[in-house]
Amino acid sequence: MKINTNAWNKIRYSIYAPIYPFLIKVVAERTRAKSFELLAARADEKILVVGGGTGADFPFLKNLKNVTAVDLTPDMVERMKLQREKLDANIEVLEMDGQQLQFPNETFDCVILHFIVAVIPDAEKCLCEAARVLKPGGRVVVADKFLLTGEKAGWLRKLIEPIATLLFTTVNRNLSDLAAAANLKIKTVTAAPNANKLLRVALLEK
Ligand SMILES: C[S@@+](CC[C@H](N)C(=O)[O-])C[C@H]1O[C@@H](n2cnc3c(N)ncnc32)[C@H](O)[C@@H]1O
Repeated sequence: MKINTNAWNKIRYSIYAPIYPFLIKVVAERTRAKSFELLAARADEKILVVGGGTGADFPFLKNLKNVTAVDLTPDMVERMKLQREKLDANIEVLEMDGQQLQFPNETFDCVILHFIVAVIPDAEKCLCEAARVLKPGGRVVVADKFLLTGEKAGWLRKLIEPIATLLFTTVNRNLSDLAAAANLKIKTVTAAPNANKLLRVALLEK
């Protein structure tokens, strides 16, 4: 039986929604900052955030002119809208599956995938959709717990994978394989600050 499904994600993220902003701030604030540093988005670029959660990315995006954020879980979408109001940010927020984006080809300059590649049921579809909606030369940033070519999941990753996947996140997806399937080039990978090699940030290009 497949445990990582959209239906389960909707249930668990509705439960996590009230505490999620506090948890993610503690665990990932510096990783997020590193990712935005790598992306170096310009004010006039068209940006898409996939699996935007509670809008933790919004403080980094509020001064950009053209930002859209989507999430599968209605509770998360509502929290993104509240965050948008709190920051008085001009960000479009939509309920949408990151595996089936409702945008035409080559719409965006940048796609932000923060802590979604390890969570979404079909990560390959997610990367392929990101690539499809990106303009040629467009960039993707991925912040997550991923492996790269030549790396194998160690015993600890293998041991915790089933329970981690059920409750929080997968820990052994391979970003090199996913990027290759989506025809995206990995330009830079960096370890997230203070994350003990589990979290990484990658910049990809179409
Ligand atoms: C770990 S949270 C990351 C939230 C946010 N990106 C951040 O950095 O804080 C994962 C988010 O992905 C959303 N999600 C799960 N499956 C999804 C899907 N198929 N399409 C879009 N969003 C999805 C969840 O609702 C949740 O908000």
